[in-house]
Amino acid sequence: MPKLTIDGRAVEVDEGATILDAARRLGIDIPTLCYHPGLEPWTSCMVCVVRLSPSGKLVPSCSTNATDDMVVECDVDAVRDARRAAIELLLSDHLGDCIAPCQVACPAHMNIPAMIRHIARGDDALAARVVKERIPLAAILGYICPAPCEKTCRRRGHDGALSICKLKRYAGETALAASETVRPPAPNASGKRVGVVGAGPAGLTAAYYLRQSGHEVTVYEREQKAGGALRSSIGEATLPRAVLDAEIDSLLDCGATLAPRSDIGAASTLEALRREFDAVVVAAGPLDGDAVAVLGLNASRTGIAVDATTMRTSLDGVFACGASVKPTKMAVRSVADGRAVAVCVDQFLAGAPITGPGREWACRVGKLLEGEMETFLAAAATRARIEPADAERGSFSPAEARDEAARCLHCDCRKPDACKLRQHAATYGADARRYTSLAPSDEPTRRRFEQNLDHAEVVYESGKCIDCGICVRIAEEAREELGLTFVGRGFDVRVRAPFDESLALALKVVAAKCADACPTGALARKDA
Ligand code: SF4
Ligand code: SF4
Ligand code: SF4
Ligand code: FES
Repeated sequence: MPKLTIDGRAVEVDEGATILDAARRLGIDIPTLCYHPGLEPWTSCMVCVVRLSPSGKLVPSCSTNATDDMVVECDVDAVRDARRAAIELLLSDHLGDCIAPCQVACPAHMNIPAMIRHIARGDDALAARVVKERIPLAAILGYICPAPCEKTCRRRGHDGALSICKLKRYAGETALAASETVRPPAPNASGKRVGVVGAGPAGLTAAYYLRQSGHEVTVYEREQKAGGALRSSIGEATLPRAVLDAEIDSLLDCGATLAPRSDIGAASTLEALRREFDAVVVAAGPLDGDAVAVLGLNASRTGIAVDATTMRTSLDGVFACGASVKPTKMAVRSVADGRAVAVCVDQFLAGAPITGPGREWACRVGKLLEGEMETFLAAAATRARIEPADAERGSFSPAEARDEAARCLHCDCRKPDACKLRQHAATYGADARRYTSLAPSDEPTRRRFEQNLDHAEVVYESGKCIDCGICVRIAEEAREELGLTFVGRGFDVRVRAPFDESLALALKVVAAKCADACPTGALARKDA
């Protein structure tokens, strides 16, 4: 039985075991893509490399047998660099949007395509839940948001962007009209208390997400009613008061306490809040330098000075967000800020490093090539953008909402969370474009967008295939009559059904198994 050391730790494995097996026995995590348990090694992706000592040779751990006295290193820069380069090479020939362009553009990064799909399926409650993961003021923003998401909607240049904002309004208003508000599950009480100064969009949003994390929250508002600029600067004609009141009530219904007519405009009152609460969030709307100084806080050019990542002010335990930090006309920015500060405060209260919500790693398709829009359109309704028949109210009926939702092109990947390529890219800080610049720039060198929809259960997108061969091998083992094969040469190799047959014919038995084993979003279940 070979005995070896990995990162200085000794391990004994069975004869024939690989370095990967040995590392896993020690709980050492080595990234893999083309490796699949139970299948013979394929050794194509090279993300599993490790270094042998003293030779310094890099070898793929999934197909290198462990031998006696072997000394293996994983936790060194040379290995990390090699793995990152392997990932970047795969990404240089990878075509996909991990996140849809609309979601990238939304300042709150709401999962727009998921919301739209729920509406298309008639599940309005789930649609509202998706919106409220990022935007608790769904109906209100459905009336007033300038919808930067729609400017980047892939369908915009064809026959009009999806009516994202009105669909969000639909989801929000449907939830308000339902007898039960879309209330998040009751959180476990954290025992911590947070004071929020200001009941505008940023403060209310912060209160909502802090409540969800189990903290007790009191929101101090100078006026009699909550709403801030939503109430003072926007008229009834643009934002009906009934919608404003109902949605704020439903938000506060999550257990936050509103303290109206409370002016926290002085250092002494802020100091009192600091004594009373475990953390304080200032979301009091625009403040000039004098007003900031009166509170005893440091000022910046635009308002309260905060650390951009942690959102902490110059006073310990005091955070600030929204227009108090930087004036904005877009309520959705204040909402995004309110959620970000809630994440920061929650981390602070847990004694964890304060990182905020962070940015998710994502690769992008970018501009479409000629003819690619037609491929996207194959999976969506052909009608042009729908306007609500009730022009006065301007809201969709359920049938209109479903019809409009059916226009969405599903630009987002079907495996944004399960994709191992994306996970490894994030872990190793891969730059998706590192090697693309090597290609000649005068012609489109990227893969073309292709989408095979002919199978009832799965979708195949060749642009996301990394030629790992897992699906080919699974189909072979299952004795699929036709199975899958590699077609083409060199850089242009693609997985296909042989003889130009359909995917439906190629995968009669193990389509779902192949989709679940595919390490990327290339082969995915249709309903994902
Ligand atoms: S396959 Fe993975 S990396 Fe590619 S778009 Fe989908 S999630 Fe992103
Ligand atoms: S078509 Fe749908 S998924 Fe694509 S950008 Fe527009 S709304 Fe987003
Ligand atoms: S489609 Fe097949 S070959 Fe391509 S990445 Fe998925 S499992 Fe690997
Ligand atoms: S080469 Fe080892 S997992 Fe791909």
